[in-house]
Amino acid sequence: MKKVWVFASLLLTISTYAQVNIIPQPAELKMPENAGQFVITAKTPIILQGSGLENAARFLNEYLKQLYGFTLPIIKKESKVPAIRLNYDRLDHPIPGAYNMEINAKGVYIGGDNATGAFYGVQTLLQLLPVEKSTSLPVAYLTIKDYPRFEYRGLHLDVCRHFFPVSFVKRYIDYIALHKMNYFHWHLTEDQGWRIEIRKYPNLTRTGAWRNGTIIGRYPGTGNDSIRHGGFYTQKEVKEIVDYAAKRYVTIIPEIEMPGHASAALTAYPYLGCTGGPYQVQQTWGVFDDVFCAGNDSVFTFLQNVLDEVIPLFPAKYVHIGGDECPKESWKKCAKCQKRMADNKLKDEHELQSYFVQRMEKYINSKGKTMIGWDEILEGGLAPNAVVMSWRGEKGGIEAAKQNHDVIMTPGDFVYLDHSQTKKEDSVTIGGYTPVKEIYGYEPLPKELNEAERKHVLGAQGNVWTEYMGNVKKVEYMIFPRVSALSEVLWSPSEKRNWSDFENRLQTQCKRYDLWGTNYNKAFE
Ligand code: ACM
Ligand code: ZN
Repeated sequence: MKKVWVFASLLLTISTYAQVNIIPQPAELKMPENAGQFVITAKTPIILQGSGLENAARFLNEYLKQLYGFTLPIIKKESKVPAIRLNYDRLDHPIPGAYNMEINAKGVYIGGDNATGAFYGVQTLLQLLPVEKSTSLPVAYLTIKDYPRFEYRGLHLDVCRHFFPVSFVKRYIDYIALHKMNYFHWHLTEDQGWRIEIRKYPNLTRTGAWRNGTIIGRYPGTGNDSIRHGGFYTQKEVKEIVDYAAKRYVTIIPEIEMPGHASAALTAYPYLGCTGGPYQVQQTWGVFDDVFCAGNDSVFTFLQNVLDEVIPLFPAKYVHIGGDECPKESWKKCAKCQKRMADNKLKDEHELQSYFVQRMEKYINSKGKTMIGWDEILEGGLAPNAVVMSWRGEKGGIEAAKQNHDVIMTPGDFVYLDHSQTKKEDSVTIGGYTPVKEIYGYEPLPKELNEAERKHVLGAQGNVWTEYMGNVKKVEYMIFPRVSALSEVLWSPSEKRNWSDFENRLQTQCKRYDLWGTNYNKAFE
């Protein structure tokens, strides 16, 4: 009887631990017949066979420490013992991040095309670990060849509608990295709050980072909570976050919104608006008529000075200037704006917006950076070197790609993670219905584009607007499990996408969220 029990529990152990449920699905995965498993314990060393692999090893150790309570010795000298070996393999994939992996009796071998690839190999290894805390971690024998499909695999976070602490921003970057995603679009300025310290303009954070209340419930709300809400990141904190992200091969793109969504900046410095104010940091959601004045040169001086402080903080080649949802009402009534139009022979306010954006692009390009804008920047004429983020469907992206501009797809119907993910969602959301299956089925390369035009689609991004996400648990609830689906859209070869297989793997992924202590929507459909 005892023997039978031991055998049964051994089987149970193997079937529990030797499962392979990797998200995003690797390009090639082979499991030998009669597969065994290698067991990682605190004695298993990480051997660095090349230089520059420390980030991957450190991340692995931090993950093990946090979730399993132990770390591994990191050594640089080869040894015959079973180990986790990190090295380089020449894979020549055009997008950074390819890697090979082999797990057998000798341990785990990860060969990255570059340091990024070794890091992603480690992410795959983490996905093979048991989803319960343990001091011995069996991983199945297998071989993997893997590489990313898209070069831009992004996730956005609006820290303006609600402010989130540095600790959560770092956790969010971890979530990005754990999904082999590589861009964090940090939405830093809005009507409801300015969130980045600018030393030349202290009022931006002294007054612009705070609002005196927030509507209660769904827009237009049932009242105002009259609770002061706000916060901002100091430049020192920004540097720390950028450095944290770099160690995870995540590039941060800052967004400084213009010419619309500017109420917080106008409140801090009323001369920036067409009327001179007074303005307020907004307490409700939506689109507001008060925007940066396009006829006043001192507005451009202000924005250039802001960018002079922002650009050195972020090594990314991109700077996002927003450009969405800019009403033209105040420009129509403003003598300075009208004079600007007449002086420059601009036929309407859309062309004035284009003038604004193109003038800023010249400045951004002069600093060696590339400008990104939401798809409204197509209206009135696209700035010559701009990258377009297509959010009102794919139309803007298609049009921009046809004009030979690079494009990042963020169509609302597919990748807006503020939408409800269940039909009977019982928390307040902005509305919409984008279940995980919808995201999983999203194809970032539109049929309307030919081969050459498709090359302009750099990838896609999930957007997380936080009007109805007042705390970090709500953010997690809204993004998971949808980010896991998005990661597979962006990473895995399209022919590898299979909904029912993904659904199976998602069961383990949900247990992993539990292990992480991460909130997620359990009622997803
Ligand atoms: C956007 O969702 N307004 C870009
Ligand atoms: Zn004006």
